[in-house]
Amino acid sequence: MPRAAAVLLDTPDRYGIVSRVFHWAAAYLLVWQFVTLVGWRFIGDGALMRGVSLFGPYHGTVGVLVVALVLPRALWALRNNRRRPARGAGIAGRLAQSVHAAFYALMLAVPALALLRAYGNGKGYELWGFPLVPQTGREIAWLILPADLLHAPLAWGLGVLIAGHVAMALAHRFARRDDVLARMAGPLRVSARAAR
Ligand code: HEM
Ligand code: HEM
Repeated sequence: MPRAAAVLLDTPDRYGIVSRVFHWAAAYLLVWQFVTLVGWRFIGDGALMRGVSLFGPYHGTVGVLVVALVLPRALWALRNNRRRPARGAGIAGRLAQSVHAAFYALMLAVPALALLRAYGNGKGYELWGFPLVPQTGREIAWLILPADLLHAPLAWGLGVLIAGHVAMALAHRFARRDDVLARMAGPLRVSARAAR
């Protein structure tokens, strides 16, 4: 395989460029989302948060970008599943795998519920001037209820999992000193076999 193609794909000792772009784009969006959410909640709508919010997209825009990324990302993960770095053995490996699966489910469910509510409450949702969810002006209660009940609690659950995930990545790097973080952020090595 040519070297350029080999760096796109995952290998057992590191993630390739495509997986990394999906991962770091979603990481940027979600870390930004939670920084602003926590800021609004604890600092409020002051000059500081209004200043901070100029540096990134709005809440709904972030959510739509996250849900748009998750579907191709899941397909790419399935396609690369057998050549990706293996999860650790035992309970820690199974836990990491379950958290990764929960990330996919929540990146889909949290914004999708909000978009469903935007249809259900008749107000619709516009992204960059494009009517992504049509504005019907008609309320449909059963499409509003799931987001009213679940959007915020599931999202805060996602935030807690992300905090744990980042803490584990740093613990691997600075306490265990292994190559788990380097698989996602280190050099894109190409094995001789893959480059052939
Ligand atoms: C990754 C995607 C998303 C995350 C992590 C997220 C997170 C959250 C969180 C944590 C809250 C509660 C804030 C609080 O407790 O003070 C919230 C509220 C809200 N979000 Fe999102 N959100 C996402 C996507 C969206 C999208 C796509 C929309 C609109 C189309 C949206 C609309 C709303 C609205 C209207 C509220 C206030 C009502 C409520 O609490 O349910 N969100 N969001
Ligand atoms: C700055 C924050 C982050 C750091 C330092 C980080 C670090 C890492 C590392 C080192 C891995 C490889 C783990 C392994 O090989 O076992 C990984 C994988 C993964 N991370 Fe993160 N991560 C961050 C943010 C996020 C966020 C916000 C999400 C989404 C909710 C996320 C979702 C995933 C998923 C699903 C995987 C498995 C590989 C994949 O399917 O893409 N990460 N992360």
